[in-house]
Amino acid sequence: MSSAKTLKASRILGVGSYVPPRVWTNDDISKMMDTSDEWIRQRTGIEQRHWAGPGVDTTDLALVAAERALENAKVKKEDLDAIVFATLSPDHDFPGGGCFLQAKLGVPGIAAFDVRQQCTGFLYGLSVADQFIKTGMFKRVLVVGAEIHSRGMDRTPEGRDVAVLFGDGAGAVVVGDCDGMPAEKDSQIYSTHLHADGAFAKELWVAAPGSAMGADFRITHETLDRREQFPQMNGKTVFVHAVKRMPEALMEALNANGKKLEDVDLFLFHQANLRINEMVGKQLGIPPEKIFNTIQKFANTTAATIPIGMDEAVKAGKLKKGMLVASAAFGSGFTWASALFRY
Ligand code: COA
Repeated sequence: MSSAKTLKASRILGVGSYVPPRVWTNDDISKMMDTSDEWIRQRTGIEQRHWAGPGVDTTDLALVAAERALENAKVKKEDLDAIVFATLSPDHDFPGGGCFLQAKLGVPGIAAFDVRQQCTGFLYGLSVADQFIKTGMFKRVLVVGAEIHSRGMDRTPEGRDVAVLFGDGAGAVVVGDCDGMPAEKDSQIYSTHLHADGAFAKELWVAAPGSAMGADFRITHETLDRREQFPQMNGKTVFVHAVKRMPEALMEALNANGKKLEDVDLFLFHQANLRINEMVGKQLGIPPEKIFNTIQKFANTTAATIPIGMDEAVKAGKLKKGMLVASAAFGSGFTWASALFRY
């Protein structure tokens, strides 16, 4: 740790991801709830998702993604200064997943904490890491997004609109300093932009357990009977706000850095619905081939989505060092965010 003297830049040193091996196609889940491949594919673009098997925790997925990101970054775990863990599906109610991951990774003593910003969690986490590095407080920060959604789904007809949308997985990046201000073409995070509007908190939420859920207990038989431990979503409202806020956040990031849409080599959007990303692309006139979508294979993996997409894009040869990347996400809160970086 060093004192903050000069403003530094941060950059992504490496990326890694992991999804559990078991694939559930739309036809597979049609056998367990009242839905169909046609409905899911047409409305969302999702074809399959990965769901974790028994005995695998969210931080188990995160551990593999973190180890892969460290290897990719050529950074030793002993050189990490902090873990920022983004999830809405932690192993336990408290402490946060960051602490459990830190123990599994075997890096005692370093800072470890959770970011609770749902689908925007990774970009919020990236922003936190960026600020730590810019102020000089830390030099190497692991930012992880990981989720196990498959154990928190209402599989009755009331919950099927949500249950079909989500998959399990983890993605991670190692963020490091640039050892002084880098040249224009070098890897760096140019800026991050964070927003929220809590007036819409209950449009996509899980009510229980929570301290507002009963006089003495955070969860009661009544809240369970009302199925309030499962996500509730007003899908149309989420959709309308997502297609407004994501372009806004993207343009904010570009304008802040004097860049144009044409300057961007790759757009890494959150993956909630292929139709959302198609509408965002159309509104802004982005060529479809510049938007890297993964929802078909992984569904919505919430905080894990963007780092999984980044890793997949690298493996597919679509994301190379020196490319300019614009990323944007929207999710529960409502929260929305963007980042502009050179990979
Ligand atoms: N399978 C089959 N039918 C389903 C279904 C499912 N999984 N879920 C809902 N339906 C039915 C509804 O019951 C409804 O039937 P009805 O017309 O007989 O009443 C019909 O499909 C249409 O439902 P509706 O909710 O109006 O569909 P929609 O066109 O709004 O699409 C979403 C639903 C969820 C795909 C869409 O609203 C969406 O993607 N919203 C954004 C979600 C999101 O981004 N969430 C995560 C944010 S990070």
